[in-house]
Amino acid sequence: MPSKYRFVKSDIYYPNSNVPKNRLNIKDPQKLHQLESELLEEAYKIFIDELNIATKFDEAYFKALHKRTFESLYDWAGKYRDFNMAKGESRFCDGKYVASYSQKIFQELAQENYLKNYYNKPKEEFAKRLAYYKCELIALHPFYELNGRITRLFFDLIAIYNGYEPIDYSKIMPQEYIDASIDYVMLADSSKMERIILQGLKKADR
Ligand SMILES: Nc1ncnc2c1ncn2[C@@H]1O[C@H](COP(=O)(O)OP(=O)(O)OP(=O)(O)O)[C@@H](O)[C@H]1O
Ligand SMILES: [Mg+2]
Repeated sequence: MPSKYRFVKSDIYYPNSNVPKNRLNIKDPQKLHQLESELLEEAYKIFIDELNIATKFDEAYFKALHKRTFESLYDWAGKYRDFNMAKGESRFCDGKYVASYSQKIFQELAQENYLKNYYNKPKEEFAKRLAYYKCELIALHPFYELNGRITRLFFDLIAIYNGYEPIDYSKIMPQEYIDASIDYVMLADSSKMERIILQGLKKADR
C-alpha cells in the first residue's frame, strides 16, 4: 500500500505500511485505532479532572498531553519529530525547526496568558485567537503521529478552562477540517478554522 505520507528518514512504521510500530505489536490498523481512541477518551477524563485555576497551557503541558496519553503504546510519545513531513500538497514545518518554532508559538501564547482570560469575553474573540494558535500548531505538526487529536485535546482543555464544553466538531465534515488546515498551511488564512471553532463552542451550564 502506498504511504499517505512522504517521509524522510522515518522508521516509526512497520515496513510497507502506515501502521506505527507499537509496544503491543498490533499490526491491524483498526485495532490500533480503537485502542488509540480508548487511550484518548481516558486522557480526556484525566486531564479535565486535573484542570485547575493554575493550569498553565505551555509547551511542557502540550508535550505532556501527547506523552501521557500515548506512552503505553509508542516510544515516541511526547517527542518531537526531526524529519520533514507533508500531507497532500502541504509541507509542515521543517523537521530541523520544529523545536525552535514551537518555542516561538508558545512564547506568543504565554503573552496572551495562554488564552486564560476569555471567561467573560465574547465568544467571537476567543474563537479567533484559539483558531490562530490551533492553525499554528497544525502547520508545525510537531509529533510523528496523533497531532490532530492532541491539538484538539489541548484546545478543548483551554475551552473548558474558559467555561465552555469541549469543542464540537461533529457537525462538520472531516474534509472541512482538512481544508481549513490547508488554508492555513498554504495561505496563512485561519478564517475557515475560526468558523469551525465558532460553530463548535458552547458555554457549559455550570
Ligand atoms: N493536506 C493537509 N494539509 C494541511 N494539514 C493537513 C492536511 N491533512 C491533514 N492535515 C492536518 O493534520 C492533522 C492530522 O495529523 P496526524 O495524522 O498527525 O494526527 P491524527 O490525530 O492522526 O489525525 P486526525 O486529525 O485526522 O485525527 C489534521 O487534523 C489536520 O489538521
Ligand atoms: Mg494520523
